[in-house]
Amino acid sequence: MITAILITVLGCAGEPADTGPACEVDAGGGHPTWSNFGEAFFITYCDACHAAESPNRFGAPDEMTFDTEDEVRSQTPSIRYTVIDAESMPLGGGLPPEDLTQLDNYLNCLGN
Ligand code: HEC
Repeated sequence: MITAILITVLGCAGEPADTGPACEVDAGGGHPTWSNFGEAFFITYCDACHAAESPNRFGAPDEMTFDTEDEVRSQTPSIRYTVIDAESMPLGGGLPPEDLTQLDNYLNCLGN
């Protein structure tokens, strides 16, 4: 009972889900979030083609937009597959390994 309440409270505080791959936390207790990593990552590497308002999406699917953390969260499996596993996104792939590692942890910290 107490455990259930604690989990509920932590969940409401935006803590990562306690299932799936672990969210790695640094020595200071920090981990990648939308504001310290995700937003800049998707603007830098993806939004030229994937922003809803992009003037030229180069054929990127209409439903595949990464303007908000919720949009990213709902597309996590496709993002993980195309960017980290297949390295087909951004078109042509080839992101620096450090960025792939950080993206992987960011997605883990989203609870996915
Ligand atoms: C230069 C333009 C461009 C950039 C930059 C780009 N994409 Fe794409 N993306 C596309 C196009 C075009 C498609 C549709 C054709 C395809 O799947 O190859 C697509 C499709 C996708 C899909 C759906 C693939 C599928 O098989 O359903 C995902 C997921 C995706 N992109 C993620 C990303 C992410 C994440 C980034 C940034 C790391 C990114 N893209 C950067 C152009 C781009």
